[in-house]
Amino acid sequence: MEPFVLAVTGASAQPIAERALELLLTKGKTVDLILSKGAIEVWNSEIGIKIPVHPDKQENFWRERFGVNSGTLKCHKWNDNSSRLASGSYRTKGMIIVPCTMGTIGKISSGISANLIERCADVHLKEKRPLIIAPRETPWNLVHLNNIKLLMQSGATIVPLIPAWYTQPQTINDLIDFLILKLFESFNESIVDAKRWEGPIYG
Ligand SMILES: Cc1cc2nc3c(=O)[nH]c(=O)nc-3n(C[C@H](O)[C@H](O)[C@H](O)COP(=O)(O)O)c2cc1C
Repeated sequence: MEPFVLAVTGASAQPIAERALELLLTKGKTVDLILSKGAIEVWNSEIGIKIPVHPDKQENFWRERFGVNSGTLKCHKWNDNSSRLASGSYRTKGMIIVPCTMGTIGKISSGISANLIERCADVHLKEKRPLIIAPRETPWNLVHLNNIKLLMQSGATIVPLIPAWYTQPQTINDLIDFLILKLFESFNESIVDAKRWEGPIYG
Protein backbone atom coordinates (compact mmCIF):
# COMPACT_ATOMS: atom_id res chain seq x y z
CA MET A 1 0.00 0.00 0.00
CA GLU A 2 1.51 3.36 -1.02
CA PRO A 3 2.01 5.64 1.99
CA PHE A 4 0.59 9.04 2.78
CA VAL A 5 3.31 11.52 3.74
CA LEU A 6 2.03 13.63 6.63
CA ALA A 7 4.20 16.66 7.41
CA VAL A 8 3.58 18.97 10.36
CA THR A 9 5.19 22.41 10.70
CA GLY A 10 5.30 24.96 13.50
CA ALA A 11 2.02 26.77 12.91
CA SER A 12 -0.78 26.95 15.43
CA ALA A 13 -3.38 24.13 15.01
CA GLN A 14 -1.36 21.05 16.00
CA PRO A 15 -4.56 19.19 17.10
CA ILE A 16 -5.60 19.04 13.41
CA ALA A 17 -2.37 17.22 12.53
CA GLU A 18 -2.79 14.90 15.49
CA ARG A 19 -6.35 14.00 14.49
CA ALA A 20 -5.30 13.37 10.87
CA LEU A 21 -2.61 10.95 12.05
CA GLU A 22 -4.99 9.18 14.43
CA LEU A 23 -7.61 8.73 11.67
CA LEU A 24 -5.08 7.48 9.10
CA LEU A 25 -3.76 4.84 11.49
CA THR A 26 -7.24 3.87 12.69
CA LYS A 27 -8.25 3.31 9.05
CA GLY A 28 -5.21 1.04 8.58
CA LYS A 29 -3.26 3.41 6.29
CA THR A 30 0.50 3.57 5.87
CA VAL A 31 1.98 6.88 7.02
CA ASP A 32 5.40 8.50 6.75
CA LEU A 33 5.39 11.28 9.35
CA ILE A 34 7.72 14.30 9.51
CA LEU A 35 7.45 16.89 12.26
CA SER A 36 9.52 20.06 11.83
CA LYS A 37 11.57 21.36 14.76
CA GLY A 38 9.03 24.22 14.91
CA ALA A 39 6.12 21.75 15.14
CA ILE A 40 7.69 20.08 18.16
CA GLU A 41 8.11 23.52 19.80
CA VAL A 42 4.53 24.60 19.03
CA TRP A 43 3.19 21.25 20.33
CA ASN A 44 4.93 22.02 23.60
CA SER A 45 3.40 25.54 23.69
CA GLU A 46 -0.13 24.49 22.66
CA ILE A 47 -0.53 21.12 24.34
CA GLY A 48 2.20 21.17 26.98
CA ILE A 49 3.82 17.91 25.84
CA LYS A 50 7.35 17.37 24.51
CA ILE A 51 7.16 14.98 21.57
CA PRO A 52 10.23 12.71 21.35
CA VAL A 53 12.54 13.64 18.47
CA HIS A 54 14.01 10.16 17.97
CA PRO A 55 11.92 8.37 15.28
CA ASP A 56 11.51 5.05 17.18
CA LYS A 57 10.58 6.82 20.43
CA GLN A 58 8.20 9.06 18.51
CA GLU A 59 6.44 6.05 16.94
CA ASN A 60 5.92 4.59 20.44
CA PHE A 61 4.67 7.97 21.66
CA TRP A 62 1.92 8.13 19.00
CA ARG A 63 0.92 4.47 19.43
CA GLU A 64 0.54 4.95 23.19
CA ARG A 65 -1.25 8.28 22.82
CA PHE A 66 -3.87 6.88 20.39
CA GLY A 67 -4.00 3.31 21.74
CA VAL A 68 -4.15 2.19 18.11
CA ASN A 69 -2.17 -0.75 16.68
CA SER A 70 -3.58 -0.65 13.16
CA GLY A 71 -1.89 1.00 10.17
CA THR A 72 1.83 1.41 9.58
CA LEU A 73 3.77 4.36 10.94
CA LYS A 74 7.31 5.48 10.17
CA CYS A 75 8.55 8.72 11.74
CA HIS A 76 11.36 10.76 10.19
CA LYS A 77 13.53 13.49 11.69
CA TRP A 78 13.12 16.91 10.03
CA ASN A 79 16.81 17.15 9.08
CA ASP A 80 17.24 13.56 7.82
CA ASN A 81 17.81 14.44 4.18
CA SER A 82 19.07 10.91 3.49
CA SER A 83 15.58 9.56 4.26
CA ARG A 84 13.73 7.62 1.52
CA LEU A 85 11.29 10.56 1.44
CA ALA A 86 14.00 12.75 -0.09
CA SER A 87 13.93 10.74 -3.33
CA GLY A 88 11.40 10.62 -6.15
CA SER A 89 12.02 6.89 -6.51
CA TYR A 90 10.15 6.27 -3.23
CA ARG A 91 6.52 6.01 -4.35
CA THR A 92 3.79 7.70 -2.28
CA LYS A 93 0.08 8.46 -2.61
CA GLY A 94 0.89 12.09 -1.96
CA MET A 95 1.88 14.54 0.76
CA ILE A 96 -0.18 16.65 3.15
CA ILE A 97 1.41 19.51 5.10
CA VAL A 98 -0.87 20.42 7.98
CA PRO A 99 -0.61 22.96 9.49
CA CYS A 100 1.82 24.72 7.14
CA THR A 101 3.72 27.83 8.23
CA MET A 102 4.28 30.74 5.92
CA GLY A 103 8.00 30.10 6.42
CA THR A 104 7.76 26.57 4.95
CA ILE A 105 5.48 27.83 2.16
CA GLY A 106 8.08 30.49 1.32
CA LYS A 107 10.92 27.96 1.24
CA ILE A 108 9.02 25.43 -0.91
CA SER A 109 7.96 28.14 -3.36
CA SER A 110 11.59 29.30 -3.63
CA GLY A 111 12.91 25.77 -4.17
CA ILE A 112 14.95 25.89 -0.94
CA SER A 113 14.95 22.26 0.15
CA ALA A 114 16.80 22.89 3.40
CA ASN A 115 14.96 20.29 5.51
CA LEU A 116 13.22 16.99 4.79
CA ILE A 117 9.72 18.54 4.64
CA GLU A 118 10.80 21.11 2.04
CA ARG A 119 12.72 18.51 0.02
CA CYS A 120 9.84 16.01 0.10
CA ALA A 121 7.39 18.74 -1.04
CA ASP A 122 9.80 19.62 -3.87
CA VAL A 123 9.87 15.93 -4.88
CA HIS A 124 6.06 15.76 -4.92
CA LEU A 125 5.87 18.79 -7.19
CA LYS A 126 8.52 17.52 -9.60
CA GLU A 127 6.97 14.03 -9.72
CA LYS A 128 3.52 15.59 -10.22
CA ARG A 129 2.07 13.79 -7.22
CA PRO A 130 -0.60 15.32 -4.95
CA LEU A 131 0.79 17.95 -2.59
CA ILE A 132 -1.85 19.33 -0.23
CA ILE A 133 -0.81 22.40 1.75
CA ALA A 134 -2.90 23.73 4.65
CA PRO A 135 -1.67 27.24 5.54
CA ARG A 136 -2.38 28.61 9.04
CA GLU A 137 -1.76 32.31 9.28
CA THR A 138 -3.96 35.39 9.44
CA PRO A 139 -3.96 38.00 8.03
CA TRP A 140 -1.89 37.31 4.92
CA ASN A 141 0.61 39.73 3.42
CA LEU A 142 1.39 39.98 -0.29
CA VAL A 143 4.49 37.79 0.08
CA HIS A 144 2.30 34.99 1.51
CA LEU A 145 -0.21 35.42 -1.28
CA ASN A 146 2.40 35.41 -4.05
CA ASN A 147 4.14 32.33 -2.61
CA ILE A 148 0.82 30.49 -2.42
CA LYS A 149 -0.06 31.52 -5.98
CA LEU A 150 3.25 30.12 -7.25
CA LEU A 151 2.69 26.84 -5.40
CA MET A 152 -0.78 26.52 -6.94
CA GLN A 153 0.67 27.22 -10.39
CA SER A 154 3.28 24.52 -9.69
CA GLY A 155 0.61 21.90 -8.96
CA ALA A 156 -0.03 22.11 -5.21
CA THR A 157 -3.55 22.12 -3.77
CA ILE A 158 -4.09 24.78 -1.11
CA VAL A 159 -6.59 23.93 1.64
CA PRO A 160 -6.68 26.84 4.12
CA LEU A 161 -7.72 25.82 7.62
CA ILE A 162 -11.05 27.64 7.42
CA PRO A 163 -13.98 25.77 9.01
CA ALA A 164 -17.62 25.87 7.88
CA TRP A 165 -20.63 26.58 10.04
CA TYR A 166 -23.28 25.19 7.64
CA THR A 167 -22.82 21.72 9.13
CA GLN A 168 -23.86 23.12 12.53
CA PRO A 169 -20.74 21.95 14.43
CA GLN A 170 -21.32 21.31 18.14
CA THR A 171 -17.71 20.81 19.23
CA ILE A 172 -14.16 21.78 18.21
CA ASN A 173 -13.72 18.15 17.13
CA ASP A 174 -16.61 18.62 14.65
CA LEU A 175 -14.75 21.61 13.16
CA ILE A 176 -11.47 19.67 13.01
CA ASP A 177 -13.08 16.64 11.34
CA PHE A 178 -14.67 18.88 8.70
CA LEU A 179 -11.23 20.33 7.86
CA ILE A 180 -9.76 16.83 7.64
CA LEU A 181 -12.55 15.83 5.24
CA LYS A 182 -11.49 18.77 3.02
CA LEU A 183 -7.79 17.90 3.30
CA PHE A 184 -8.30 14.36 1.99
CA GLU A 185 -10.93 15.23 -0.63
CA SER A 186 -8.48 15.11 -3.54
CA PHE A 187 -7.37 11.57 -2.60
CA ASN A 188 -10.89 10.18 -2.93
CA GLU A 189 -10.27 8.57 0.46
CA SER A 190 -12.87 8.78 3.17
CA ILE A 191 -10.92 8.69 6.42
CA VAL A 192 -13.43 10.66 8.48
CA ASP A 193 -17.21 10.66 8.89
CA ALA A 194 -17.76 14.42 8.95
CA LYS A 195 -20.94 16.17 7.85
CA ARG A 196 -21.12 17.61 4.33
CA TRP A 197 -23.38 20.31 2.93
CA GLU A 198 -26.60 18.58 1.90
CA GLY A 199 -28.81 21.59 1.39
CA PRO A 200 -30.34 23.95 3.93
CA ILE A 201 -31.40 22.71 7.37
CA TYR A 202 -34.53 24.60 8.49
CA GLY A 203 -35.10 24.67 12.24
C1 LIG B 1 3.24 29.17 19.55
C2 LIG B 1 3.65 29.49 18.14
C3 LIG B 1 2.68 29.57 17.15
C4 LIG B 1 3.03 29.87 15.83
N1 LIG B 1 2.04 29.92 14.89
C5 LIG B 1 2.36 30.17 13.59
C6 LIG B 1 1.33 30.16 12.61
O1 LIG B 1 0.15 29.94 12.89
N2 LIG B 1 1.70 30.36 11.32
C7 LIG B 1 3.01 30.58 10.94
O2 LIG B 1 3.25 30.75 9.74
N3 LIG B 1 4.01 30.60 11.88
C8 LIG B 1 3.72 30.38 13.18
N4 LIG B 1 4.71 30.38 14.15
C9 LIG B 1 6.11 30.67 13.73
C10 LIG B 1 6.82 29.43 13.21
O3 LIG B 1 6.80 28.39 14.17
C11 LIG B 1 8.28 29.78 12.85
O4 LIG B 1 8.29 30.68 11.75
C12 LIG B 1 9.12 28.55 12.55
O5 LIG B 1 10.46 28.96 12.26
C13 LIG B 1 8.57 27.79 11.37
O6 LIG B 1 9.42 26.70 11.06
P1 LIG B 1 8.84 25.44 10.27
O7 LIG B 1 8.04 25.96 9.13
O8 LIG B 1 10.08 24.70 9.81
O9 LIG B 1 8.05 24.64 11.26
C14 LIG B 1 4.40 30.09 15.49
C15 LIG B 1 5.38 30.00 16.48
C16 LIG B 1 5.01 29.72 17.79
C17 LIG B 1 6.09 29.60 18.83
